Amino acid sequence: VDDLVAAARAGGVGEAGATRRTEPWPNDPYPAGSGVGQRYQSLRALLAGELDPIEIVGTLSASGLRGMGGAGFPTGKKWELVAAAQPGTVKYAICNADESEPGTFKDRQILADQPHLVIEGLLLGMAVVGAEQGWVFIRHEYGPEERVLRAEIDALRAAGVIGPDACGSGRRLELDIFVSPGGYILGEETALLECMEGHRGEPRNKPPFPGNYGLHGRPTLINSVETFADVPVILRRGAQWWGEQGRGDSVGWKFFAVSGHVENPGVYCVPMGTTVRELIDEAGGVLDGAAVGAVQPGGASSNFIGPENLDLALDFGTLAKAGTMLGSGALVVLAEGTDLLAAATNVLRFFRNESCGKCVPCRVGSTKAHALLDGASTLDDEQRAQVLRLEEAMRKTSICGLGQVALGPVVSVLGLER
Ligand code: NAI
Ligand code: SF4
Repeated sequence: VDDLVAAARAGGVGEAGATRRTEPWPNDPYPAGSGVGQRYQSLRALLAGELDPIEIVGTLSASGLRGMGGAGFPTGKKWELVAAAQPGTVKYAICNADESEPGTFKDRQILADQPHLVIEGLLLGMAVVGAEQGWVFIRHEYGPEERVLRAEIDALRAAGVIGPDACGSGRRLELDIFVSPGGYILGEETALLECMEGHRGEPRNKPPFPGNYGLHGRPTLINSVETFADVPVILRRGAQWWGEQGRGDSVGWKFFAVSGHVENPGVYCVPMGTTVRELIDEAGGVLDGAAVGAVQPGGASSNFIGPENLDLALDFGTLAKAGTMLGSGALVVLAEGTDLLAAATNVLRFFRNESCGKCVPCRVGSTKAHALLDGASTLDDEQRAQVLRLEEAMRKTSICGLGQVALGPVVSVLGLER
């Protein structure tokens, strides 16, 4: 595993992998270089009956951990709901590693560097909710990271940590990897489930949520890579420690992918609540010392904010209040002088191309809006009004997040240009 981790870090397993990095990350509770034998301590304690599932849910709730895939649903609450759903039925757990949001590549780095944390979190989730089978649903372009995960799973099986008698507990815990056939929309959790069931990858209407009606109609725990990776960190170091890592009212460590016009694009792990300005500085500042023109703080789905907002804290609440979101943990920086309307139209083009076409507002609305905006340097009043009408219709009537947010970045840029 160590060789594969090193190769994935260096981007050297025959194709580009995660960013090159040598120092350990600040969150890992296990000593650098330790193996399966020293890690997975919380899982072992749970399976040995030394840790109680209810206590784990309580610790996660007390820590304030929220879903890091983008929506920020409270993790303790989700685990509690799935644990309580349909008692006695078969349940499943899935780690969503289909990270595909433009500008978003922090999960890739976590998979490459900390597969043990991701997998321990997933196994803990399975044991807490009562699932015997779990999967990592991974983006098909993440070949080096898939190989890291497969090697880690093989090592766990060889050590008896997973299998028909996991850690000698008499409980069956099995893990497998499901490689996405490709397509941004499959990262939407219900499209992912449809895909795993062998159907066309289109989102379902929610509710019911997967926690009640998931894979093959069974209660299914779905969390993202970073969320699962945070769980063993919190269980080993405690909810209080986790809370103390954030700035102000924010809790924990947060991984960000920083890209665009910065000197050192890459993945950074900083305290939650770090400001936009500090993270840009961490990434070496704006390219060639230019001023910031605008920033997307949470990936392509998030609204742009202007340079007057650089001292905003990067956390769920602050960014939501500012009309944008923490989203997928991807800070995209555009230098002053960048054509913001063209940049936002580029984002819209991505969503138009990736729309699955299931619902009319998204399929037709994104096409109409793109036709209107493509190549436009300015919009007259009637064109602006039409964009706003389309945005409202798509936001209110699309069935999944893609259609709901597709025109948000464009509208935010129109606001910045006013
Ligand atoms: P959502 O708000 O519908 O759900 C979030 C999670 O909470 C889901 O797992 C859902 O099942 C669960 N949930 C919500 N309400 C619940 C309830 N009442 N009972 C039980 N469970 C409940 O958001 P969604 O559509 O899953 O995610 C949207 C976010 O995904 C966006 O904010 C965006 O930032 C992010 N995103 C991330 C991408 C990436 O590559 N990482 C790609 C695209 C979007
Ligand atoms: Fe598909 Fe768009 Fe509807 Fe989502 S909003 S289900 S991507 S057509």
